[in-house]
Amino acid sequence: MRVIIESDYDAMSRRAAEIVVEVVREKPECVLGLATGSTPIGLYKELIRMYREEGLDFSKVRTFNLDEYYGLPPAHPQSYHYFMRQYLFDHINIPPHNINVPRGLVKDVQAYCARYEQMIKEAGGIDIQVLGIGRDGHIGFNEPGSSLASRTRLVALDEQTVKDNARFFGREGDVPRFAITMGVGTIMEARKCLLLASGSKKAKAIAQAVEGSITSQIAASALQMHPDAIVIVDEEAASEMKRRDFYLYTEKMMAERLSR
Ligand code: GLP
Repeated sequence: MRVIIESDYDAMSRRAAEIVVEVVREKPECVLGLATGSTPIGLYKELIRMYREEGLDFSKVRTFNLDEYYGLPPAHPQSYHYFMRQYLFDHINIPPHNINVPRGLVKDVQAYCARYEQMIKEAGGIDIQVLGIGRDGHIGFNEPGSSLASRTRLVALDEQTVKDNARFFGREGDVPRFAITMGVGTIMEARKCLLLASGSKKAKAIAQAVEGSITSQIAASALQMHPDAIVIVDEEAASEMKRRDFYLYTEKMMAERLSR
């Protein structure tokens, strides 16, 4: 696991964009795994800027989103379909048929989830998966207790997650109680994983995910077993990691070695 500590949210977002853009430039027909939440918004802004100002091309890129609230239609302002259009898809040249976000209104959920997995496979697998982290250590909507081998499925949301996400809905009572999410096992098959976290509210979850035991109680801790996982955090989100200084030192040493 590589841990990169940046000074603040903007620096975290720029660094994340550099890593995503490297994948897109090397493989224009790459498959991006995308996340919602407030954390990746800065990364998406930077991608839009590079599309506008530097001609970054998304015309061959395909995307798969991690999750969607169950029961919300794509046009609902709080749906993750809506979020992705608002913060990324409407502002870059990605063809709509290259975009995949789990559908929140399907009837046969099990069959749909199996198809979502199949679609990822048929696309050749995910080249880079962007991830945020919940305060309970969840990635996607894999709440504590999710099997580390879990696949795309319907899940019930934890009370804490419902509370945390109530700010987007106005009323806690309006937050959906279920979601469709890629599983931890699905996420772990991405060739590269990029976990982003900003702010002191995420410090404990990040310390547990990076330095704690690998456990289904903290889904993000599975990334310790991933061969190419990068964690980018700002100073506040890094504040509870015991080996913080070591991560800074390692990054500095590696950068110096590369510039030699
Ligand atoms: C939701 C999403 C997660 C996201 C998390 C954190 O629960 N399903 O993918 O990582 O929120 O959101 P935020 O970035 O707003 O803190």
